[in-house]
Amino acid sequence: KKKIAVMTSGGDAPGMNPAVRAVVRTGIFLGCDVFAVYEGYEGLVKGGDLLKKMEWGDVRSFLSYGGTNIGTARCKEFRERSGRLDAAYNMVVNGIDALIVCGGDGSLTGADLFRSEWPSLVEELVTSGRLTEKEVASHKHLTIVGLVGSIDNDMSCTDATIGAYSALERISEMVDFIDATAKSHSRAFVVEVMGRHCGWLGLMSGLSTGADFIFIPERPPKAGQWQEDLKTVCRRHREKGRRKTVVIVSEGAIDDELNPISSEEVKDVLVELGLDTRITTLGHVQRGGTAVAYDRSLATLQGVDAVKAVLESTPETPSPMIGVLENKIVRQPLMEAVAITKSVATAIENKDFDKAMSLRDSSFAE
Ligand code: F6P
Repeated sequence: KKKIAVMTSGGDAPGMNPAVRAVVRTGIFLGCDVFAVYEGYEGLVKGGDLLKKMEWGDVRSFLSYGGTNIGTARCKEFRERSGRLDAAYNMVVNGIDALIVCGGDGSLTGADLFRSEWPSLVEELVTSGRLTEKEVASHKHLTIVGLVGSIDNDMSCTDATIGAYSALERISEMVDFIDATAKSHSRAFVVEVMGRHCGWLGLMSGLSTGADFIFIPERPPKAGQWQEDLKTVCRRHREKGRRKTVVIVSEGAIDDELNPISSEEVKDVLVELGLDTRITTLGHVQRGGTAVAYDRSLATLQGVDAVKAVLESTPETPSPMIGVLENKIVRQPLMEAVAITKSVATAIENKDFDKAMSLRDSSFAE
């Protein structure tokens, strides 16, 4: 019987629970044993109670829970080979040699490294006497499948990461709330949104709420010039009769000289314009709450395909990442997707912003 483990790793994202539910139930339906790894990679390193065989009923109601019920953690031990050795040991003693990880690019890179080291880890477990050749005989190869769970929508080769649309919905709702009070007082608000180095949440929430101005890392404004541009745009909107001003600042916002742009700086400019201005940093409310229907269905369809990908994988298949392109669930080579994602950061560092835009998914199309 094939034994598969499923894990959530890195920052939680709405939709992770539906993904775990889909993996568990599809696995059981297709005749596998499915284990949940609690607390991310820490669960693999420590084993014991953190590796739990799941039954059909264990994931009941998971569709409507936000966060991740099986926990997540940023695990230092797994970054060391000794931690990965313990992880391999815990997997082999439980008969598991396939791992479905739902997380961001860091977590998925860790998983692929684990896979490439696996034969040598297993060999070391035998030479050090922790396991016998017989015990490892049928576990010479590790299958890794990636599901991209992140509110940031920062992974290349997929149109949407699990959780991004839920966070976008949350932000848009919050900006609507802010609009009401902003209009009442004729105030300006600087709303800071998450996204790490990716401007998708800033861009899409700005579009969805009709913000006056947005700052995103991939299309940075001119250093020393943006202040005047911001004033011109906001002044024009006010002159047209708008009683509120909303500026969205992505947490990774920079100018074209790569200087960070803070909400405080943006506020100062709006104050110079004569606007009574407040800053709202939305913070972790963006990550909380239950997943929107899109994320639930995306996670479900991708979770099903992740199990199928495990069952169809061979030692030669590169680790797949389950993505979605033009509304179709697709399998992409995981490390290629990670490499392209990293090249966005490099393009930004090299001030090649057009390249950064084009490397992002289709939502960033000019
Ligand atoms: O990657 C998801 C994310 O929420 C980013 O948008 C943000 O930069 C970061 O995680 C916050 O991390 P933490 O929850 O550890 O503060």
